[in-house]
Amino acid sequence: MVEVRLEKVTKTFGKVIAVDNASLTFEDKKLTTVVGPSGCGKTTLLRMVAGLETPTQGSVYIGDKLVNEVPPWDRNVAMVFQSYALYPHMSVFNNIAFPLKARKRPREEIKKRVTDTAELLEVSELLDRKPRELSGGQMQRIALGRAIVRQPDVFLMDEPLSNLDAKLRVYMRAEIKKLQRLLGVTTIYVTHDQAEAMTIGDTLVVMNDGKICCIGHPDSVYSKPKDTFVATFIGSPAMNLLEGNLESDKGLFVTESLKYKLPNSMTRVTKEKGASKLILGIRPEDIIVENFKANGFVKTEVYMIEQLGRELLLSLKIGQHIIKAIAPTDIKLEIGGVAWMKFDETKLHVFDGKTDGLIV
Ligand SMILES: Nc1ncnc2c1ncn2[C@@H]1O[C@H](COP(=O)(O)OP(=O)(O)OP(=O)(O)O)[C@@H](O)[C@H]1O
Ligand SMILES: [Mg+2]
Repeated sequence: MVEVRLEKVTKTFGKVIAVDNASLTFEDKKLTTVVGPSGCGKTTLLRMVAGLETPTQGSVYIGDKLVNEVPPWDRNVAMVFQSYALYPHMSVFNNIAFPLKARKRPREEIKKRVTDTAELLEVSELLDRKPRELSGGQMQRIALGRAIVRQPDVFLMDEPLSNLDAKLRVYMRAEIKKLQRLLGVTTIYVTHDQAEAMTIGDTLVVMNDGKICCIGHPDSVYSKPKDTFVATFIGSPAMNLLEGNLESDKGLFVTESLKYKLPNSMTRVTKEKGASKLILGIRPEDIIVENFKANGFVKTEVYMIEQLGRELLLSLKIGQHIIKAIAPTDIKLEIGGVAWMKFDETKLHVFDGKTDGLIV
């Protein structure tokens, strides 16, 4: 069993706290994605698992072994980078074979493992080529091949697909997921693309500013975001957030330009928590839009209409609020006209206006 565990790990570079007191377990045989904005410490975290950085404080375990003092080459982890890092003067065969040659494995074994790996990745016909004779997607496969051929305990992947075009990226992420399932190797996959993190991961870790914000199944992180940062970082277009106050006797959420009757259960829980300054959260896809007045709908002005392909992204204006909503393409609306909107109450989120934490 090879889980990777961090205990109170901190890494500082001078005054910069790159990773701040991180404790978490990357589960055995699972693919865990780590996502967060640029500079939040993802690469540093990965490099500490690889042994390329030493924690300033705390412990890193691979399996049951404390590895803080173990050099990278003795950790049996394989890292795949964004830049592929292939050797330009070597053939594809030798690029894949490199880690085995470095370990002085017998010739026959090397030949068999490279051939098997190439077959698995469907690149057998490329083995004699040089990296410059490959497409970006092919280079990425070879970089993966070089990681797989070692039969490591852990895969570490740092934005491995970000040099590929959008279509190839979507294809390759499915391939990586399939491969990881097949091989059953514990994998930590770093990306700043929240859509990629959501679709590929068994578990999702969100980082911000060096800290681990939350860990969970992608669906639960999406449907019950722990705070307003996670709520707006995960999901695109982002969740709408409205700041206001609770008029608890009437159960009304009130802003300068909106009065919204909250479901009774929400008012009760919010009152119990003693919060009065609130942030109401609703995802664009959880807003129902009509072009006629209907019971319980609020009047808005259509501020902008954007085509997303299969649906429309509407910007609806109520006083100082601009609320993003998804609507079917056949709805008849025009910019500057009126639209009627209603929140799906089962999908509403209430955050504490002081702490940003989820209340209900
Ligand atoms: N060797 C280093 N020396 C000094 N500061 C560093 C070093 N490596 C990283 N940092 C700083 O630590 C913080 C975290 O960097 P890191 O590369 O881990 O972020 P990241 O989440 O991978 O970002 P990105 O999405 O842009 O790759 C940043 O503020 C960065 O400038
Ligand atoms: Mg990085």
